[in-house]
Amino acid sequence: MNFQLTEEQLMIQKAARDFAQTELLPGVIERDDQQKFPAEQIKKLGELGFMGMMVDPKYGGAGMDTVSYVLAMEEISKVDASASVCMSVNNSLVCWGIETFANEEQKQKYLVPLASGQAIGAFLLSEPEAGSDATSQRTTAFPDGDDYILNGVKNWITNGNSADYYIVIAQTDVEKGHKGINAFIVEKAWAGVTVGAKENKMGIRGSDTHTIMFQDVRVPKANRIGEDGFGFTFAMKVLSGGRIGIASQALGIASGALELATKYSKERKAFGKEIMHHQAIAFKLADMATDVEAARLLCLKAAWLKDEHENYDVASATAKLFASQIAQTVTNEAVQIHGGYGYVKEFHVERLMRDAKITQIYEGTSEVQKIVISRSLLK
Ligand code: CAA
Repeated sequence: MNFQLTEEQLMIQKAARDFAQTELLPGVIERDDQQKFPAEQIKKLGELGFMGMMVDPKYGGAGMDTVSYVLAMEEISKVDASASVCMSVNNSLVCWGIETFANEEQKQKYLVPLASGQAIGAFLLSEPEAGSDATSQRTTAFPDGDDYILNGVKNWITNGNSADYYIVIAQTDVEKGHKGINAFIVEKAWAGVTVGAKENKMGIRGSDTHTIMFQDVRVPKANRIGEDGFGFTFAMKVLSGGRIGIASQALGIASGALELATKYSKERKAFGKEIMHHQAIAFKLADMATDVEAARLLCLKAAWLKDEHENYDVASATAKLFASQIAQTVTNEAVQIHGGYGYVKEFHVERLMRDAKITQIYEGTSEVQKIVISRSLLK
């Protein structure tokens, strides 16, 4: 077993760290406060290859491995989880889904702009009444000549307004249940697509979360991904990889909080010495560091399995479950170590604590991850 990162992986990690410090850190508090999407920063991330990290260069991607993606996601998430969720959805759910399952024509038309940072993508599965229970799709797309007619409402859509292209999961044959579901590439600019109001969220407030409505949208049959009825399997496979991205986001939020708490405890004095010399603080930091390292290893293992073309469904669920859990405790402790300063915006940890919560909810709640893990044990 080799835990050594390659030169290239270390280089990518450093590039992401530098980008986060120079481009994302300035203004992150204001963007959170004003719910401002980091549009310029995402554009630059795209130019640097971070929006299509694992895509083959022949489709405009950076051709990197999933381990590099985890390293980059951790660094970006330490500073700005609103930017990193945009990056994660575009990389894992949209680009990977299209590169792996779409046909050549679809790749040329959609993957090239998405992977090279010229366009942004979103993944539309959740509905008002279909969250964890993803088979209960109410959005329909019924065949009509060379098209499908798409109708329905999708909720909690990351990149909802900033995206150019949506991957929409819809029921095409109600009788067939989850075997009658398909995935489509839908352009936001098409007639009948409406972007609803932006959600006013607790955390990741810079990210662009909307309800999207479809009314009699004509979707060419050429925009269906894969064989008829492949949509639910497509969604499950895509989400399995997406969970590596969100696990790495949770890891980054936690490791960012640990770095801030460590720095603060070396500077802040109480009872005649820096607070790190008080065992109450030192032991907290030790527990936080242990949790962060364990989460990092789970994320890297899931990524490594994916790079080795092994099954990673359980590994990605495990990484997401654990990393999102420790993101709660580590950010909470980081606020505690900062005392009153931790409760105000200038010190960043309060934002990290708010941002951490969503990692237990999106791309499958913690309970969904437990379903995946426990079913594998019971098989
Ligand atoms: N790969 C391939 N196929 C899979 C699969 C996988 N990982 N997981 C399940 N399937 C297949 C099953 O084999 C089964 O197929 P057959 O009927 O042919 O055997 C079919 O899918 C149905 O599977 P289940 O019976 O296991 O389905 P279920 O209804 O019990 O649900 C679940 C399982 C794990 C709870 C699933 O519904 C799920 O993952 N739900 C959560 C959905 C989710 O993550 N939503 C997040 C929205 S996206 C988002 O958040 C993006 C964003 O903007 C940030």
